[in-house]
Amino acid sequence: MEALRKLLPPFWKRGAAAYIARQMRIAVPTESDPRERRVAVTPDVVAKRSGGEVGFVVQAGCGIRAGFGDEEYRQAGAEVAGGLDHLKGAEAVAVVGPPAPEIISRLSPGTVLVGLLQPLERPEAMAELAAAGLTAFAFELVPRATRAQTMDALSSQATVAGYEAVLLAASSLGRFFPMLTTAAGTIAPAKVLVLGAGVAGLQAIATSRRLGAMVSAYDVRADAAEQVESRGAGFVTLEVEPLDATAAGGYARELEMSAQERLLAGLAEHVARADVVVTTAAIPGRPAPRLVTADMVRSMRRGSVIVDLAASSGGNCELTRPDQVVETDGVTVLGPTDLVGRAATHASQMYARNVAALFELIFPEGKAVIDLGDEIISGACVTHDVEVIHPRVRELLAKGRG
Ligand code: NAI
Repeated sequence: MEALRKLLPPFWKRGAAAYIARQMRIAVPTESDPRERRVAVTPDVVAKRSGGEVGFVVQAGCGIRAGFGDEEYRQAGAEVAGGLDHLKGAEAVAVVGPPAPEIISRLSPGTVLVGLLQPLERPEAMAELAAAGLTAFAFELVPRATRAQTMDALSSQATVAGYEAVLLAASSLGRFFPMLTTAAGTIAPAKVLVLGAGVAGLQAIATSRRLGAMVSAYDVRADAAEQVESRGAGFVTLEVEPLDATAAGGYARELEMSAQERLLAGLAEHVARADVVVTTAAIPGRPAPRLVTADMVRSMRRGSVIVDLAASSGGNCELTRPDQVVETDGVTVLGPTDLVGRAATHASQMYARNVAALFELIFPEGKAVIDLGDEIISGACVTHDVEVIHPRVRELLAKGRG
């Protein structure tokens, strides 16, 4: 037999190995949060990645709200299953938001779970994933390194949020964005101010420019200026003048003024002049910085609009209430937390590519290799071997229990 095997070509060996070693199964449940419209894996990713060592099994109807029907998944090569029993025995499970207990309870120990698991907001839930023996990866913790760009779901989803924020602002504003010259007169372009020029902010700038608005933007990072300007917006440089020494009772007042107060004082005139303010300022794992006070809102012209992307982490604007419309002196303050789901098809497609890239790293040969020496794996892995292994999540757990 050994002699015969030696005579056979190498592909025979590979084919047999694949046949004997069961296909690795990636399972996709319907999202647990009924408000979630996205799906973690889209048919294009199934078509590209399934076959050979990898097979997909998706819950019937999981992609409907994102615009993907069961038939599309089948045609792409996935198995479509009713209920949640398809999760049993899967090597990997992909979700968008945190999975419900009925999903977790069906997963076998050692299953790799990937998703936007909110590890820093929900450390106790991470302890439950560890207790279930799952190896969980949170996209929120993927390091923002060049090699990890294809897995950066925060960025892909923030791109969608920045775009949708501007569309929302444009449809809520009683004015045009572009300058129009018509027989009925000339219309001045809207003035848009974007606060925070990270991924969402830069997309908000680009989208506002495409709609023809005059755009300016501010970020605490001075190196954001070049990116802002390359998208056709003006960068706001804050030179907060020292306060009138006499009126302020001498130097003391100026020295007492904190960096935050100086920032607000500098921003006030720019907010007052804007028709639209889109705020996207964030510091990972920290409450959103306050950039727009109630007084600044009141200083804006009637009919102006603020869209605050940071509503779920406390808001960049003092008046923001998550998912509510707040009207103050004719100014509308919006704090939508579901912006990404408004473009669920493309958001899912981008997210699914991030999922596929992360799986490629975790399952290099169709088998999980949890190499904690790899900075992306160790950065994003929250639980492994029945333990919470991520230092920041461990710290939060210790604080919470201490
Ligand atoms: P990012 O980290 O790429 O950008 C945030 C920017 O804010 C950075 O450039 C940072 O320098 C800047 N920043 C921090 N403190 C500042 C301050 N005091 N003043 C001015 N700028 C400051 O973050 P990304 O990915 O663009 O996300 C932005 C926000 O959008 C986050 O709060 C995120 O949670 C939120 N988001 C909201 C969604 C929704 O549906 N509402 C969906 C997706 C993201």
